[in-house]
Amino acid sequence: MKRLGAGIAITGSGSAAPARVLTNQDLSQIVETSDEWIRTRTGIETRHLASASESLSQLSAQAAKEAIAMAGITPAEIDLIILATSTADDLFGSASQIQSLIGAANAVAFDLTAACSGFVFGLAVASQFIRTGVYQNALLIGADILSRWVDWSDRRTCVLFGDGAGAVVCQGTKSSDRLLGFELYSNGDQNDCLNSAYQGQPKTLIEGVSVGLGTYQPITMNGREVYRFAVAKVPEVIEKALFRANLTTEQIDWLILHQANQRIMDAVAKRLNIPPEKVISNLAEYGNTSAASIPLALDEAVRQGKIQARDIIATSGFGAGLTWGAAIFRWGR
Ligand code: ACO
Repeated sequence: MKRLGAGIAITGSGSAAPARVLTNQDLSQIVETSDEWIRTRTGIETRHLASASESLSQLSAQAAKEAIAMAGITPAEIDLIILATSTADDLFGSASQIQSLIGAANAVAFDLTAACSGFVFGLAVASQFIRTGVYQNALLIGADILSRWVDWSDRRTCVLFGDGAGAVVCQGTKSSDRLLGFELYSNGDQNDCLNSAYQGQPKTLIEGVSVGLGTYQPITMNGREVYRFAVAKVPEVIEKALFRANLTTEQIDWLILHQANQRIMDAVAKRLNIPPEKVISNLAEYGNTSAASIPLALDEAVRQGKIQARDIIATSGFGAGLTWGAAIFRWGR
């Protein structure tokens, strides 16, 4: 279904996480750490981990079905599927597998990689297709199974991450545009702060022709540098997105930041003068689920009845790339 869209409305959300939970106590059996260290430095208490038989596509499909049901449309009405992920089941992408799993036969589907900023970047991309009238209904999924790429012997990183998926349905609307403003950035000069880089060994095919065969390496991170970057750039990018939306921080009903570290969330809220009761956090249960963290937190808050139709939400993602971005939107139709 294609129509001339005027604006975009975010009309449904869904989320999914693997059933299996790993506690901080459990982690202390794997690396030298403690519940106390993890809690006080990060705010994380548990994380959900996908088993070897669980796939990113299945998890995403579960979240997507919930979002589509909440939006009150059918999978056949979806025109576009964007999967924001860094951990696709297939190097060629997983979006079309999700398309098949949910029966969205009329959609075009592709992956988008911008690490923990993926959801915010995806929202900006989806909105362009809708605002120009090319597509009417877009499904945006943020999903990651970072546990596949964590170095489980590195206590500086393995305590931080968890697995999950979140999804939203964005629809063209003739009434006012609910995406009020966004701002996106990247800085490749700081790429080495957070990586899961491909490493290949030369394999000679014939004399003079060799290729690099290998795999992606486990996640490495300069935690202090990423922390500094987040606390400096996130308030700034939210203020810029607010400026585009012609709004002030006082008008924000809810702040949903990428769930990386409670101390980062507290510092950003403090800098923006946003009271703690407006800050949505489910980090304690899920840890950092990368591209999934914002839609997962959004969906929980919507289903708990915290977020109501027309509430103004400020959201910001930040992470590897380095990438960061913010979006300001009104929830619902
Ligand atoms: N348990 C116990 N001790 C630990 C652990 C652990 N799990 N991890 C590190 N330590 C030790 C360190 O070895 C160090 O000891 P030392 O002083 O003897 O060397 C000490 O604790 C302090 O280490 P720091 O790295 O300085 O700890 P910090 O307070 O900076 O917290 C943290 C580390 C939590 C990683 C923090 O830097 C952080 O959250 N950074 C941001 C990470 C982030 O947000 N990433 C998001 C991007 S996600 C994406 O895009 C995929």
